[in-house]
Amino acid sequence: MRLPVALLAGAALTATHLAAALDWSGLQPLGDAQSVTRHERGVTLACADGSALTVTFLTPAIVRTRAQFAGQPAAPDHSWAVARTDWPAVTWQLAETADAVTLRSDVLEVRIQRSPLLVSFIDPATGRVINADARPAARDPQSGRIGVAKKLGLDEHFYGLGEKAARLDKRRGRFTMWTSDTPGYVEGTDPIYQSVPFYLGLEHGVAYGIFHDNAHRSTFEFGHLTQESVDYSVEGGELNAYFFAGPALKDVVSRFTELTGRMPLPPLWALGHQQSRYSYYPDTMVEQIVAQYRARDLPLDVIHLDIHYMAGYRVFTWDRARFPDPTGLTRRLAEQGVRVVTIVDPGVKHQPPAVGAHDAAIDRDLAPQDQSYYVYNEGLAADYFLRQRDGSHYIGEVWPGKSVFVDYTKEAARRWWGDLQHASLTARGVAGIWTDMNEPADFLDPTGRRHEHIVFDDLGRQSAYAGHRNLFALHMARATFEGLARHRPAERPFVITRAGYAGIQRYAVKWTGDNNATFASVALNIPMFASLGLSGQPFVGADVPGFIGRGSGELLARAYQVAAFAPFFRNHTAIDQYDKEPWRFGAHYEAIVRKYIQLRYRLLPYLYTTIEEAHRTGVPLWRPLILNFQADENTANLDDQFMIGDALLVAPVLREGERGREVYLPTGALWHDFWTGAPHRGGDMLRIDAPLDHLPIFVRAGSIVPSTVAMNHTGEKPWDPLRFDVWPDAGGEARGELYEDDGRTTAHRDGAFRRTQLSFTANRLTFAPEGAFAPPAREFEVAFRGVTAREVRLDGDVLPAAQWRQTADGVLLVRFADPGRACTVELR
Ligand code: NOJ
Repeated sequence: MRLPVALLAGAALTATHLAAALDWSGLQPLGDAQSVTRHERGVTLACADGSALTVTFLTPAIVRTRAQFAGQPAAPDHSWAVARTDWPAVTWQLAETADAVTLRSDVLEVRIQRSPLLVSFIDPATGRVINADARPAARDPQSGRIGVAKKLGLDEHFYGLGEKAARLDKRRGRFTMWTSDTPGYVEGTDPIYQSVPFYLGLEHGVAYGIFHDNAHRSTFEFGHLTQESVDYSVEGGELNAYFFAGPALKDVVSRFTELTGRMPLPPLWALGHQQSRYSYYPDTMVEQIVAQYRARDLPLDVIHLDIHYMAGYRVFTWDRARFPDPTGLTRRLAEQGVRVVTIVDPGVKHQPPAVGAHDAAIDRDLAPQDQSYYVYNEGLAADYFLRQRDGSHYIGEVWPGKSVFVDYTKEAARRWWGDLQHASLTARGVAGIWTDMNEPADFLDPTGRRHEHIVFDDLGRQSAYAGHRNLFALHMARATFEGLARHRPAERPFVITRAGYAGIQRYAVKWTGDNNATFASVALNIPMFASLGLSGQPFVGADVPGFIGRGSGELLARAYQVAAFAPFFRNHTAIDQYDKEPWRFGAHYEAIVRKYIQLRYRLLPYLYTTIEEAHRTGVPLWRPLILNFQADENTANLDDQFMIGDALLVAPVLREGERGREVYLPTGALWHDFWTGAPHRGGDMLRIDAPLDHLPIFVRAGSIVPSTVAMNHTGEKPWDPLRFDVWPDAGGEARGELYEDDGRTTAHRDGAFRRTQLSFTANRLTFAPEGAFAPPAREFEVAFRGVTAREVRLDGDVLPAAQWRQTADGVLLVRFADPGRACTVELR
């Protein structure tokens, strides 16, 4: 009998999925706890089978659990991801009973049941279990595989996991951590570029986070097939987990980034619009593209040079025919306010020198490289290239053909890389570095599965590839970032990365690789950026309108409406694809794109303020609604809208041909249409018309949003006038903030910034600035909504009528010179 095709397909699907469920056979659980040794910050439990479990408070809200399974070789306590190891003393209590050992801080209780050994995290205020083991952690002594199972709550939601081509809520999903070069990925492709083994859980309004700091290939299953548990399994290494208490999701992200580090403050220009293609060359073409931008009044801050600027794809060289004078090029572009970012790949062309050939003594990167390639020669002489167990070099294949790869775990190699980068790129005026292919990609084996014979120096430990592939990009980004910081100490580094591990935010901005020029891919941006932000990486963006595929004018317009709010805002396309610069689909679409790039520049004061908040607190600016409205269950799995900071809610049209959409406005707030000011009550679904040039944006009542005029690049002129839109809530109050500094140097670290707190209450708007940075003289323009006045006073003095007016659409506009100190505007 022949089975119907649909049934056959179903059977195949079930079989593969079942094969993927966590296999507990061969795993030996931690034995029962027998004795307890108390340390300054926690305890070590000695188990009946010879295993040991150490539980430590880093802070009252961060607990580390580290296991030493019976027979497992002891490993040094070192992490490449963790940025902080010095923690202030924690006050905690220990209680022991026959059944359990309990550690308790002010905000978290850790209860360890002795038999079987199960760990639970409890809210000491309510006694409620936040998260608990479903079975004892276990390890296979033969293979080294480790398994952890947590109880799965009926209403539990899961977020994070860094970069996954998946929806926001990871519940019922299965995800693998193994950095992979996956061009053209779609929703469901897994794994892709990054591996960040950190997730957040949320149930009954209480959030927590778990970070498994183990870079081996691992898998997370959030009730994918078994409904009893959330399973984590990892192919080697240690059980080394951090638990972060909430109760707010924001607290969890802050705590995770307290441990793994926060994004450094980027230069302001990095928030500008950027143009790329694989590849612009020769130099005259680069200049023509920039000229088009300026002629068309389209803002642009950065142009990217992809791999064709190099001589035969050799890193840290220039193709002299295409780019005869790199310094001249970067200077001419700088005069137009455009910076150059160059791509740098990790693969170094494997090129033993021709007999008798020597490297040039000066301008090595500009010399012909076909006889002798200085980077290969130097790396070889200094023993910086990755080797295999038998001592031979690992030779893979990437753009230059056969290539060797740097072992960035060696400090000297990282320094060397940073020095090469300076001499050949930044000393020639290049402003930032785009690190690509750092999974690391290898055309001979895209899966990386056949590389297990590679060995990393790893501080002399000679660690196997299996535990290190996922860390490769972190090391490379570090070398790149530290090189920029060392050679230009006053400037803020700008580094882009494709792959990464937890902590990558300390060094690089994340772009989501080779996406498709499709509506589905644009829609996927929203949960991907949100998840990256929840995983510690706030500076994110995708190729606009998509790298692979032709796209269309309509796609370009809608993609720009999303991307105008992405921290990293870059148009890029693949080598063999139709050009996708803003003007390529005709004037109609170009005008829409211009409108949204200009909106981006107008909102820079707000975006810069929210990015500084992300830098300081770890809380991302691109937010899923649940981050701001944790109590509103309707937002738990809502990922076709997003918020920027606290104030702006964006609901882009994500399907081709649609000219409107449903928008959910979270409960407990009043909202205003950004464009018309029309009010809407939260807790409702609205139907909004959205013709192609319209992006639905809403402002949360109670916000004050700073903005300025559109400009052609971030350095073109000061923010003048600086505008503040005051949107009072039902009680007539509003609050906001503005962060400013020189936008370029590291002087902000020494107090050279100005943070202005704005608060509007009882018809008085107060500006309270702090910090040593003095912005240039400028005008303030304040737009009050929903209020009227007969008289306006500035610090008690009546403002002349010429300085304020009531507009036809109900806005009260007030203008005055920034007094450069605290001041109050009073409406009477
Ligand atoms: C892969 C990157 O993802 C893409 O953006 C780039 O254009 C190509 N490599 C060529 O460098």
